[in-house]
Parts: sequence; structure tokens; C-alpha cells
Amino acid sequence: MPVSLLIASNDEHFRETVRENLLNIQNSKVLSEYPEVSSTLYIRVLQDLERHPEAALVMDMSYDSEIALAALQKVKQAVPELYVVASNYQADGETVLACLRAGASDFLAQPLKRIEFRDAIQRLESAPRRVSTTTSRLGKIYTFLGAKGGVGTTTLAVNFASVLAQRKQQTVLLDFDWTGNEVCLHVGAAPQYTLMEVGENVGRMDQALFEGFVTRDPLGFFLVGPPDALEQRGYFTEPMFREFSTFLVEKYQSIVIDAGKNINDDVVLGALQASNTIFLVITQEYPAIRDAQRYLSFLMRTGFSQDQIKILINRYQKKNDPFHASIEQVQQTLNQAVYYGIPSSPVFLSAINKARPMVSDREAAAELDRMFRSFVDKATGVVREAVAKSA
Ligand SMILES: Nc1ncnc2c1ncn2[C@@H]1O[C@H](COP(=O)(O)OP(=O)(O)O)[C@@H](O)[C@H]1O
Ligand SMILES: [Mg+2]
Repeated sequence: MPVSLLIASNDEHFRETVRENLLNIQNSKVLSEYPEVSSTLYIRVLQDLERHPEAALVMDMSYDSEIALAALQKVKQAVPELYVVASNYQADGETVLACLRAGASDFLAQPLKRIEFRDAIQRLESAPRRVSTTTSRLGKIYTFLGAKGGVGTTTLAVNFASVLAQRKQQTVLLDFDWTGNEVCLHVGAAPQYTLMEVGENVGRMDQALFEGFVTRDPLGFFLVGPPDALEQRGYFTEPMFREFSTFLVEKYQSIVIDAGKNINDDVVLGALQASNTIFLVITQEYPAIRDAQRYLSFLMRTGFSQDQIKILINRYQKKNDPFHASIEQVQQTLNQAVYYGIPSSPVFLSAINKARPMVSDREAAAELDRMFRSFVDKATGVVREAVAKSA
């Protein structure tokens, strides 16, 4: 059985050494690297195991062993059958025992030695029950990222969250477009509390507190975004987001994020990293396609995989003209399949004027509504018959 590893370490050198050691072992590869051993590690691990149930985890415990042990325990609670190789510079009996008690299957002393590493991989290969059967009950994070302003990122994120809420999914919609802050405009909300208050209270966040101060849309989803005054972005950092997202995926089924177009914002990058699916929103106009190309290559360099990213064409038109690229041209330029096309319709504009999402009025544009819902079906893996029954 081939060996697939997930590597968690705060130390880049450690991750590199594991990768190098693996080069000498046939049929082996690194699937993911996590640059931080923290209480939210299990979320990333669960997300990766969904796609690669055969993977094992190599975990560096040396940065802060107390945090690392707690993180390991959480990982093992979430996936009891996961094979974990713990590693530390300290390799005295007590350290090793603590790792084993927290759920490690094996232990490697640092600095890593080639022979010891190879032996550990052999033990891993011959270990029974290596495929994790846990399907995660964690909520899914769907992030809409615009390759450009004005392509319809907010419109699509808002309608996506709306459909999920209509399907009685516990849904949270986050607005991370700090300057735009337009989600509330699309749904006619005037939020009293913002991400600033979320950040201030993230350490003691629970469902009662969260639902007590964020806005609830009539369709049922919860909504929180940035402060409206532009001079205060509000103190909301990437580590805060990570803590917040752990809470969200534990308590809600779907988290939808309007990331705007600010791909190099730390919080947005953190959100992209935590996402099960990233929708890169474009139009068929050349500037959008060109920016999408830059975004995609940045994401690839940052360690994202192509299957996490789905290309969404908004204002999609079939008909060829000199100002719009065809789907084939888009796919060729981006070297990736187009996931879905949402047609252009004035109904989106009138929806904004009414300050209610397009999908909230199912009669207004039945065909558009149907197309949008089938996009949501595809994205959430819902089978058609099941939808027909529940509708
Ligand atoms: N498929 C569409 N057809 C027609 N108009 C659209 C469509 N999607 C979005 N729009 C309109 O385009 C404008 C910009 O959309 P918005 O979602 O705010 O873009 P972004 O968030 O990318 O800046 C809005 O007025 C919106 O109603
Ligand atoms: Mg927007």
C-alpha cells in the first residue's frame, strides 16, 4: 500500500527533512503540510482525510509540547483510527509515553535519522486498519473569491447561503470584503455587531453568544461582516479567524464566505486555507481571466491543490463575440475546467434594489432560480431526487 503523509510542524526544516527522507521511499508522497500545530489542526486533517482516507500523520511535538499533546488528542478524538507518528527532540521515557497516551502510534526522535525514519515508515506500512472510515461531521466552508471587483462575488455568495438556509441547513455567511461590506446591502440587514466584536469575544465564543449578537436573515442564515466605517477595519486577525472557524465548523453545517477580491489579505488567505471549496468567480472578459490566471498560480505556489478551486463564470453567455472569451478559451488559458456558468440576468439587479437575494423569490425568475439551485446541488453533492423530495 502506498504511503501518503500529512506533516504538521511549526518548523519548516522539520517538514523539509520529512519530505527529503520520503524521496528515498518508493510509492510515497506528502499530501499536505500544516505549518502550525494547534488546537484547530484536526479540522485540516479531517478535510484532507475526506479526500485521502489512507493518509497517516507525522506530527512534530517539539514547538510547544503542551499545545501539541492537546492538538494530538483532538485529532485522535476526531479520527481514532488515524496512524500518527509523533516526533520530538526530547525523547525521554516520559515524553514518549505522553505522546503514546495522547494517541500516537509511533515515535521518532529528532533530529530525524534516515534509518530510523525508514523503519518507522515500514512499521506504518505493516500496521493494520490504515484507512480511516470517519466521515467528518464538521461543517463545510465555501469561499467565494472574485478575480476582480464587480464580477458578482457577493451576489453568488449571498444566494448560495440563501439556498442552503432554505434547505434548512445551519448556515453562517461571513463578509470578509473589508472595504466592500456589501453583503448586508444585498440582504437588507443593518448589523449592530461586526467581526470586531467576534474578534473581541472569540476566546469565549459559544452558540448562544454568537447568535445573540450577529444578524439573523429571515431565510435563517446568520450573517456577520466588517464594521461599516472605513477607518476601522476592526481588530480581526488570521489567528482569530482560525479560532472562530473551529467554533463555526463544529456548530454549523455550512459556512459561506464572501472573500471579495483581496487574495493577499491574511484573514482571506486563512479562510481560503480552511475552505473545503474555493469558488474563483470570473466573467468572460479578458481582464478577469487574466487576473484569475494570476490568482490561480499564486494559489498553486502557496500549496493549494487544483481540486479545491472551482472556476465559476458569472454573467455567462454562450454566444461568441469579440469581447467575451468562450468556455474553451477560458479553460485553455486557466488550464482548468470551468465548474459552472451563471447566466446574466437583470433579475440580480432588481434583487439588489429590493435588498433580498434573487433566490428568495422563487417565482421572479424560475429558470434562473432553477439554474442557481442546480449549481448549489453540484457544489454540495446533493442528489437531484433528494432535493425534489425536500423542496
Ligand atoms: N449574473 C448576473 N447578471 C446580471 N447582473 C449581475 C449578475 N451577478 C451580479 N450582477 C450585478 O453586478 C453587480 C456587481 O455584483 P457584486 O455581486 O456586487 O460583485 P462583486 O462582489 O464581485 O463586486 C451588482 O449590481 C449585481 O447585481
Ligand atoms: Mg462584493
